[in-house]
Amino acid sequence: MISKVKILAICGSPHIEGLSPGLLKKAAEGAREAGADVEVVLLGEKKIKQCIACPSPPCWTSLDCNIKDDDVLSIRKTLDDCDALIIAVPVYFLGINGLAKDFIDRIRPREATGKPVLPIAAAGGTGKGCVKALQDLCTSLTIFGFRVVMPLPATRYNREEAFNEAALRGRKLVEEAKERKPFQGLSEGYNWLYSLPYMNWNLVDELLYLSRIAIEGLRRKGRIDLAEQFAEELISLEKYPENLLERAANLHERTMHAFNTT
Ligand SMILES: Cc1cc2nc3c(=O)[nH]c(=O)nc-3n(C[C@H](O)[C@H](O)[C@H](O)COP(=O)(O)O)c2cc1C
Repeated sequence: MISKVKILAICGSPHIEGLSPGLLKKAAEGAREAGADVEVVLLGEKKIKQCIACPSPPCWTSLDCNIKDDDVLSIRKTLDDCDALIIAVPVYFLGINGLAKDFIDRIRPREATGKPVLPIAAAGGTGKGCVKALQDLCTSLTIFGFRVVMPLPATRYNREEAFNEAALRGRKLVEEAKERKPFQGLSEGYNWLYSLPYMNWNLVDELLYLSRIAIEGLRRKGRIDLAEQFAEELISLEKYPENLLERAANLHERTMHAFNTT
C-alpha cells in the first residue's frame, strides 16, 4: 500500500495553453485535491529528440539512452519513479501528434508494473480521431506495462463535460494508484485494455458517437428542433445499417456543421 501517491502528468501538445494542456491540468488538479503529489510536464516546454534507432542501444535493458542532450531521460526517470501517470495528447489527422509520438518512441517497456494511467486524447477540430488516437495511445501504454484506466476522448462538443470528467478521473486515479495490479503477461494486458470503453470501436462507432455528442451540444445551445431531427436520423441509422460508414460520415459532417454554426 502506497502512502503518498506520486503522479506524473505529461502533455504531448506543443501548446502551453490549449485543450489538451487544459484537460491535463484539470486532471492534475483533481489528483492533488485527492492528496497526490503531481508533477506536470509539458512536452512543449521540453527538448524532445526523435528516437534514431541507434546500434547497440542501452535503452532496452536499462534506464539509459544514447541521446543525452535532451530532456527525455530525466522524464523517463520520473516516469519510473511515479505511482501513476496522466497523459493528454492532441489529435492530429486522426492520430496522436508528432511530439507525443516522438516522446513515446523514446520510452521503453519496463517490467509490467501495472501502474495506472489515465489517458486523454483531445481532438479540437472536427473531433474525428479522438477515439482512434486514444486507442493508439492506450495500446502503447499497455505494451509499456501500464494499466490503462478511464480513457477519456475529448472534443469541442463535449468540452465542458470532458473538463469535469478530467477532474473527477484525476481524483479517482489516486485511489487506483494505491494498489499496484500488474498483469501476468501482455495477453492479460490486452484483455484488460479491450474490456475498457472505446477500445473496441471502429470508425463507424466513432462517427456515431461524435454525431451523438454534437446533437447533445445542439440541445445545450437551445437548438431543440434541429437536435431532435438529427436524433431521429441517428436512431434510424442505427436501426437500418445499410451503407453505414457513408451515412455515419454524412451525419457527422452535418451535425458538426450545425454545432459550429450555431
Ligand atoms: C496538423 C493538425 C492536424 C489536426 N487534425 C485533427 C483531426 O484529425 N481531428 C480533429 O478533431 N482535430 C484535429 N486538429 C485540431 C487539434 O486536435 C486541436 O487544435 C487540438 O485541440 C490542439 O490541441 P491543443 O490545443 O491541445 O494543443 C489538428 C490540428 C493540427 C495542427
